[in-house]
Amino acid sequence: MPSTPNPAAFGGTTLAAVEQDALSCSRCDLAVTRTQVVFGAGDPNADLLLLGEGPGEQEDLTGVPFVGRSGMLLTQLIEGIELTRERVYICNVVKCRPPGNRDPRPDEIDACGPWLDEQLELIRPIVIITLGNFATKLMLATKEGITKLRGREMELQRPGARGVVGCVVVPTYHPAAVLRSGGRLLAETRADFVKVKRLLRASG
Ligand code: URA
Repeated sequence: MPSTPNPAAFGGTTLAAVEQDALSCSRCDLAVTRTQVVFGAGDPNADLLLLGEGPGEQEDLTGVPFVGRSGMLLTQLIEGIELTRERVYICNVVKCRPPGNRDPRPDEIDACGPWLDEQLELIRPIVIITLGNFATKLMLATKEGITKLRGREMELQRPGARGVVGCVVVPTYHPAAVLRSGGRLLAETRADFVKVKRLLRASG
């Protein structure tokens, strides 16, 4: 897979600088109700980026993505393919908690898009695991749902992140859905992570 230079390593803007800007973001109404911005966490040079939907209560309080119950499962899935949270990068479609954990609105997703594009451009992951419908639809520019798309691997479709060349998107279920349903969804999600392990190994 092609490896593109990461501007963070070449004296351009850094992920830390972008995060600093994002922490005072007021581009949408979520700024009014959030406790804090949950920008993202992990390795700024990660080969693997995991993209969720939006912060929940625990994330809003701590400023760290996926630290609640879903986060515990996500950590297990990451460790199941011999990685750690420190070696991957984890973030969300929207960086601020939608009140009452409602779905993020299209205008909020649009307003937050440029932050995500900056993350993608600076990290330049080789693989993105999209967790659930919101992340999958956004990264693949599709209206198709996760049930149809999981099990496949597709090229990133994100006009705002054109510098991210050859990045493969692997859609899987959101950990909250896996926690609700267990069984088959857990087995399929584990299989998706194993596929990602293979893709990362193949990329060298
Ligand atoms: N669910 C998400 O989509 N993201 C988080 O950070 C936590 C729960």
